[in-house]
Amino acid sequence: MTVVANYGDDANDGDRVIGWLSPLRTVDAVQPADYDTLEEIHAASFDAPWSADEQAALNDKPNVATFVARRGSATSSRRPIGFITVRHAADEGEVLTMAVHPRQRRAGVGRLLLNAALRHLYAERVNEVFLEVDPQNEPALNLYKRTGFVPVGERPDYYRDANGAHKALTMRLEMNQPEMLARCG
Ligand SMILES: CC(C)(COP(=O)(O)OP(=O)(O)OC[C@H]1O[C@@H](n2cnc3c(N)ncnc32)[C@H](O)[C@@H]1OP(=O)(O)O)[C@@H](O)C(=O)NCCC(=O)NCCS
Repeated sequence: MTVVANYGDDANDGDRVIGWLSPLRTVDAVQPADYDTLEEIHAASFDAPWSADEQAALNDKPNVATFVARRGSATSSRRPIGFITVRHAADEGEVLTMAVHPRQRRAGVGRLLLNAALRHLYAERVNEVFLEVDPQNEPALNLYKRTGFVPVGERPDYYRDANGAHKALTMRLEMNQPEMLARCG
């Protein structure tokens, strides 16, 4: 198992105390045993959940990668606490989904996952990354904006829920800007 990120890797974590009181977390590639937990996290996060089988089938594709965050302590469970799935084609990347377990949110896990996925896409020679986000999803919108994603368009009727259909915001991240190179290099 290759650990691709540790809590504290991100330069933006500089103002946080990394010590024995800090919540140690690691990010590594998804394992077959993880899919049931990913199904639970996805169901707790979205109206239209993705099953374990759907996620496994998606990850069978050679251009799709899922990164999983776990608690880093040797004594804690290795069950995923969050994940991100990305796809790349030619020089474009796409964030397909990401979610952090509701009880683990607002503790830096989402940012750790996104940075790990961006490092992977950068290594795959991706120049720009796209994603769709609900404009009312303030946590995700803030996370993407502070990572450098900017809105580039809208997709009408992209989401459907009990209140009907509503639009998604398309966001784009330019990988070759200096702060991204520092993050991914
Ligand atoms: C979006 C999501 C993945 C963020 O994960 P997280 O682990 O809570 O995020 P982090 O703790 O790393 O936060 C990173 C930044 O995101 C923003 N953010 C996260 N939660 C926020 C909230 N509740 N309100 C406002 N901004 C928030 C902040 O800018 C935050 O930085 P800060 O803590 O320095 O202010 C998580 O809220 C989630 O799983 N939501 C449900 C699924 C979802 O919406 N996925 C995205 C679909 S496009």
